[in-house]
Amino acid sequence: MVIGKPLFTVEQIQNRVRELADRISEDYEGKNLLAVGILKGAFMFYSDLVRAIRIPLTVDFIIASSYMKTETTGEVKVYYDIREDITDKDVLLIEDIVDSGITLNHIRERILARRPRSLKICAFLDKKERRVVDVPVDYTGFEIPNVFVVGYGLDYDNRFRNLPYISIFKKTA
Ligand code: IMP
Ligand code: MG
Repeated sequence: MVIGKPLFTVEQIQNRVRELADRISEDYEGKNLLAVGILKGAFMFYSDLVRAIRIPLTVDFIIASSYMKTETTGEVKVYYDIREDITDKDVLLIEDIVDSGITLNHIRERILARRPRSLKICAFLDKKERRVVDVPVDYTGFEIPNVFVVGYGLDYDNRFRNLPYISIFKKTA
């Protein structure tokens, strides 16, 4: 397997994260922001983003993973969920990457059932052309084509998450 040169460098990522954090800080001024990271993939983006947000917020996480049976049917298992009451919270879901949209859609509906004051989604990467389920993404770091990427929290077989940049992953025989 081969890790190529960065698709997004550390500097490009930092700049984009700062821009997103500025927008979120403005949009959530005076609100009751609860930043919810979806683990494991979002851990690096999440920690950079919340550090750059300049308004008060609280933190929580969801641990979930999806099992693809076919290209279009996925099952999502949730291992840890938000513990507190969210009816007075403006929830911002923070995800590493949206591909088919199945994972995020499942988590979104699960949270909506608990009647948060508001719910928005922030995804670091978006593979729009791969979408199977329509899920609204309010803040996007970068749109990318249909390539498999690793680094900055994203994995191949649980590896490469610690790379500080995003790289295209190519599997060789
Ligand atoms: P979805 O349910 O198809 O949208 O899948 C989203 C999940 O698939 C992400 O949270 C990642 O865990 C994983 N995923 C999708 N594309 C990639 C990729 O290019 N690299 C690493 N993980 C990916
Ligand atoms: Mg993930």
